[in-house]
Amino acid sequence: MSTGAPHAELDAIRAAALSELEDALDEDTLEQWRIAHLGRSGKLTLVLRTLGSLPAEERQALGAASNEVKALLEERLAARREAVQSKGLETLADDAIDISLPGRPVRIGRYHPSTQIMREICDIFQGMGFQVVEGPEVEWDRYNFEMLNIPKDHPARDMFDTFWVDANQDAEGGFTTLMRTHTSPMQARIMEAHDPPIRVVIPGKVYRYEATDASHESQFHQIEGLAVDKAITFANLKHTIYEFARQLFGEGRKVRFRCDYFPFVEPGVDVSIDCFKCDGSNPSCSICHGAGWLEIMGAGMVHPRVLSAAGYDPSIYSGFAFGMGPERIAMLKYGIDDIRHFLANDMRFLSQF
Ligand code: FA5
Repeated sequence: MSTGAPHAELDAIRAAALSELEDALDEDTLEQWRIAHLGRSGKLTLVLRTLGSLPAEERQALGAASNEVKALLEERLAARREAVQSKGLETLADDAIDISLPGRPVRIGRYHPSTQIMREICDIFQGMGFQVVEGPEVEWDRYNFEMLNIPKDHPARDMFDTFWVDANQDAEGGFTTLMRTHTSPMQARIMEAHDPPIRVVIPGKVYRYEATDASHESQFHQIEGLAVDKAITFANLKHTIYEFARQLFGEGRKVRFRCDYFPFVEPGVDVSIDCFKCDGSNPSCSICHGAGWLEIMGAGMVHPRVLSAAGYDPSIYSGFAFGMGPERIAMLKYGIDDIRHFLANDMRFLSQF
């Protein structure tokens, strides 16, 4: 074979073509490569077109060499195309979604245990004809204390360690707004705004400026109950509480009323249920600690002075009221040993409810 200029050109075409082919990683580039090197205006085709003008001997040798290069490039193109196609399939296989895999579970939110128990309690009272009402957490002294028969300097104010809000002051410079220490101010607000008959429960947050321990928080919830009408008696209170205890803690619960003092009720009582875990038979019971009784709320007959302060005539109307701590009730119901779990934001605790 001659080593003249046309052959050198053929060598260069072959070398450039094979090197470029190495860089062709997809079908589009391969097609461009084919057009550039083997197409009608490709470099090799142009060489073949010049054959006619060469002397016969040289034409034969160059023709054979050109056809060899052409065959080689076509062979390499086919091999490269196959490699690119199978690589593409591999990549597809890597990215494929395996529809036979089980789905990832979606974490579903839940209500906070305080919300759950409050809803459960409110549902029970709604079933007995009570309406659910809410009220402000920042409250006037007037509703939190004065209209509830707790005037200024009354020793009963010590029962409620108060967070005062320094937004408003009276003539003597005393604060007149506070974070409500209980939900009872809603008794005064509702009676002031509505005529009897009244049957409401009021769930909500309350605040007390006190040190925390296993059974005391400085921020917790209460649910207040109030019923006012003509001829409401202590028997109505007893029946309502009995029915509530039976629905929340189970059939056959005994309810105990003992005298207690709250300035806004007369008589006032604390209410306990018999221990649903041991029925009072286990001295080392984790819930009642052998006492046999669990305190669940304060209650009583609405004090005549509270009725009068709200504009009701106590010789015509009477009522009962109660107030309970849902966190304490949840602790009894679910055997929770420390009230501080409720606000600790620990998912290990929260996810159990
Ligand atoms: C009161 O707050 C009265 N307003 C209840 C009341 C209403 C009595 C209507 C009569 C008529 P007491 O301070 O006992 O009462 O609180 C009521 C309930 O709130 C308690 O039984 C308890 O369950 C809960 N509680 C009280 N203090 C705390 C505290 N620091 N942390 C958590 N729960 C508490």
